[in-house]
Amino acid sequence: MNIDPHQIEEKITDRTRAIMPVHLMGKPAEMDSINDIAKHYGLFVVEDAAEAHGATYKGNNVGSLADMGAFSLYIAHIVTTVEGGIVTTDRSDFAEILRSLRSHGRACKCESCVLNRSSSYCAKRFSYGDSMDIRFIFERIGFSAKMNELEAAIGIGNLDIYQKILSKRRSNLYYLISQFKLFNPYLATIEKEPHEEIGPHALPIVIQEEASFTRRQFVRYLEKKGVDTRTLFSSMPTQCAGFKYLDHSLGDFPNAEYIGDQGIHIGVHQDIGRRECDYILNVISDFISKKKRSRRVKIVSDHQSPSRHSKRGKT
Ligand SMILES: Cc1ncc(COP(=O)(O)O)c(C=O)c1O
Repeated sequence: MNIDPHQIEEKITDRTRAIMPVHLMGKPAEMDSINDIAKHYGLFVVEDAAEAHGATYKGNNVGSLADMGAFSLYIAHIVTTVEGGIVTTDRSDFAEILRSLRSHGRACKCESCVLNRSSSYCAKRFSYGDSMDIRFIFERIGFSAKMNELEAAIGIGNLDIYQKILSKRRSNLYYLISQFKLFNPYLATIEKEPHEEIGPHALPIVIQEEASFTRRQFVRYLEKKGVDTRTLFSSMPTQCAGFKYLDHSLGDFPNAEYIGDQGIHIGVHQDIGRRECDYILNVISDFISKKKRSRRVKIVSDHQSPSRHSKRGKT
């Protein structure tokens, strides 16, 4: 479900500045190939690790594999501050710009603010001129994206239980993945490869073309049985009105659009365990059996009545 490195080069133009691979559902993107391409074309790489907390690729943490990595701390994620996020980078020049950007583009961008310490003396404060306080000089257009103390306290509390959360969710996710072959060829999910650990955000499911049911029917069944679902976003520029101005046409991103139209994800929360995972698997299994049975009945009845078969088309 991640970016296909084989299709990156053909999309690079003289306006391309960066590649932004998403570690979708916590599964690391193919970073070696992506970094090779970026190096060849002189591009930056920014990892979207929003939902990939705890994921590793060839022994290294996601978020440390490129120029920058962005993690979401929104409530749906493994570590949360309710809202907010983190950008990781090992470049101090990028870190300075990021600190400025999060605070309206201010010139004031030290790692730690001495003005908040007891001496309150800052040698840089009037370095722009006697009447110019560095705190109110804006070097660039920025955002207001500062984390407040309450959010930070929640995040620090989360860190205390992070390993526990991670291992519980990972065991749920890996168990569900290991059983998922049962639903071949109707449903597919991600696989864990030997060189990686997946950040256990959720279990993605994509309805395959072989299925005789729609996503809506599947979702309705799961939710009636108490299994909550979300779609797999449908957030390509061709699927969201806000990006019309980019002038893409439906079909420009066939794989991602398909996943957006036919995908869902379901939770692997740390408060569920093997019993609940088995329940989820049984619900899916029952749904597929029911659909298979109703399909068989239709095929049989169509077979008995060829005139109806031609009218109905595919069952
Ligand atoms: C892949 C991905 N990128 C970006 C975001 C946005 O994160 P935030 O809501 O913290 O801005 C999300 C949110 O869940 C996400 O899943």
